[in-house]
Amino acid sequence: MSSGSEKSMLGVLDSVAAMATQQDAEFSGISPDVYTSQALLDLEYERIFKHQWACVGRFDELPNPGDYLTADVGIVPIVVTRGEDGNLGAMVNVCSHRLATVAAGAGNAKRFACPYHGWVYDLSGALLSAPRMPDDYDKAACSLRQVQVEIWNGFIYVNVDLDAPPVSESLAALEPFFRPYHMERMQVLARGSEVWNANWKVATENFLESYHLEMTHAASIGPLFPQGTLKMVSEGPMHAFHSFTVGEELVHPIDPSIALPNPDLSDADKRIVYVGGVFPNHLFTVAYDQFTWMRAQPIGVDKTLIDWGVAGAFNIPRGTKPDANHPNLYYINEIPKLNGEDRSVTERVQKGARSGMITPSKLQANEHGLLTFARFLSRCLSTN
Ligand code: FES
Ligand SMILES: [Fe+2]
Repeated sequence: MSSGSEKSMLGVLDSVAAMATQQDAEFSGISPDVYTSQALLDLEYERIFKHQWACVGRFDELPNPGDYLTADVGIVPIVVTRGEDGNLGAMVNVCSHRLATVAAGAGNAKRFACPYHGWVYDLSGALLSAPRMPDDYDKAACSLRQVQVEIWNGFIYVNVDLDAPPVSESLAALEPFFRPYHMERMQVLARGSEVWNANWKVATENFLESYHLEMTHAASIGPLFPQGTLKMVSEGPMHAFHSFTVGEELVHPIDPSIALPNPDLSDADKRIVYVGGVFPNHLFTVAYDQFTWMRAQPIGVDKTLIDWGVAGAFNIPRGTKPDANHPNLYYINEIPKLNGEDRSVTERVQKGARSGMITPSKLQANEHGLLTFARFLSRCLSTN
């Protein structure tokens, strides 16, 4: 690294630290260099994504022994499996022979054969065979590297850092809000992925504030989420959530042929929608009968993979394609539209940030999640 780039890296870290020390009552947006620095992204891969919990999917996406999924967490390829015993396992998806990724995509398998030289691993990551290696080869030393895995509200979370405390412990403050919704019972209705030409933090921040709904989503959900009801409800070291009280028109009559009853929610509860994120990049909304989520996975300083999904409290037989035109399942068609609207504005932010000409102005109280997120970034990136 040249002395010039070292100086600029220190400058970017100073920008993050300065953001984090702002007052709760008066704060500004992130300095533009924090969205455009490749050196900062490299540091984020090491100090954030190798130590924080990341959502990689839903528990009900791996219903059977042998089911597996793969996902990158920062720059670390991960494979999550359901073993023959029904338990989930998670491993670094990198072959111990010469580092090829072993599993790909998602599906069902009894074992994984590395496509490079054919080393074979079982669902727990143990090396079963290594063709043409000596008989006394130490296979036990060549298992796939284990990572932590935990289910939280039906989400599969993984963490490369084996010393990190449980995600449920870190997010205990959210339990009273989400428990009555029984998200763990909700099943996946739709999944998708797309690439946005914006830094992953631009995508994350876009979800942490709903000030933009009235304008950005004027043609879709904006009018249904009254800005006057918007309030911050819970913020902590790893999260920031706000809520809306939505109009009656968003509380659809329950269709008993598909809906799962939930006696734990009152009529008033049914008009609350929570919106926010678990840092660094798991973003979701929770409503009375369904939730939507996305994961903003960096793939470059100005490119982010958006993995999204919709899940709901519906009794739709597995393998049956949900009817996206059913009024209770409105988010299936709505999310791609909303994502398109968010993609457009986040790409505009990236273009503005790249200019390096403008520092964001003061923000309003309902954007406080951005300050909480900046404080999280600062804590993770600090060398102290
Ligand atoms: S890299 Fe996997 S078998 Fe060689
Ligand atoms: Fe949005």
